Amino acid sequence: MEQTPQKLEMFYEGKAKKLYTTSDPDLVIAYFKDDATAFNAKKRGTIEDKGVVNNRISEIFFRLLEREGIKTHFVRRLNDREMLCRRLEIVPVEVVVRNILAGSMAKRLGREEGEALKRPVIEYYYKSDALDDPLINADHVLVFGWATTGELRRIDTLASRTNDIMRRFLDERGILLVDFKLEFGRHKGEILLGDEICPDTCRFWDKETRKKLDKDRFRRDLGEVEDAYHEMLARVSR
Ligand code: TMP
Repeated sequence: MEQTPQKLEMFYEGKAKKLYTTSDPDLVIAYFKDDATAFNAKKRGTIEDKGVVNNRISEIFFRLLEREGIKTHFVRRLNDREMLCRRLEIVPVEVVVRNILAGSMAKRLGREEGEALKRPVIEYYYKSDALDDPLINADHVLVFGWATTGELRRIDTLASRTNDIMRRFLDERGILLVDFKLEFGRHKGEILLGDEICPDTCRFWDKETRKKLDKDRFRRDLGEVEDAYHEMLARVSR
């Protein structure tokens, strides 16, 4: 195995992760925390072992996606809480893909959660804590220069293929992929899938019982939060 570059200084601390530079300028180390926030950090808490579980679940999804030809920032998992990643110039757009109506879309449109959408819906949100990540459209992305037309087309293709791959994988494990959020960035002129893919950033429902196995248990005070994260790790590990 290639040598692991030396961990240098923390250059970014987000709500769920810290990022460190390394002795290789092309690589960073992501450290997964147990801190949980919701509603743009208006609600705060801790989910025990969340960092460990999210690091492992993200590894499983990134490996799956790489096997299927999606280029991601994932290099390898280093230990319980750290992942070695390619350094990205992040596109400040959160891409949400939805298969079943839930969350902010259900609220915005005044509809019941749980309605199957007749095809996946892709949404964009401007990544800005100060503005609470407002919903935007493709024109906004282009007009404000957050991505080029070519990049946005690539992002849409990658998001849609990621949805197909993850949906099939999860279906075989008794899980409905309700919706999820992706982030992308540039690395050596190419758009790569970044961030993490885990119960913080996806909605996972048990196919039989529709039990929520994701961060909605924390957001909505439903209890059994840690159990849900561990259950998801067990499901994707088989
Ligand atoms: P939403 O229904 O609240 O807009 O969330 C859609 C998906 O995006 C859901 O799977 C959770 C994920 N998400 C994040 O990863 N980060 C966020 O800050 C929010 C609001 C949602």
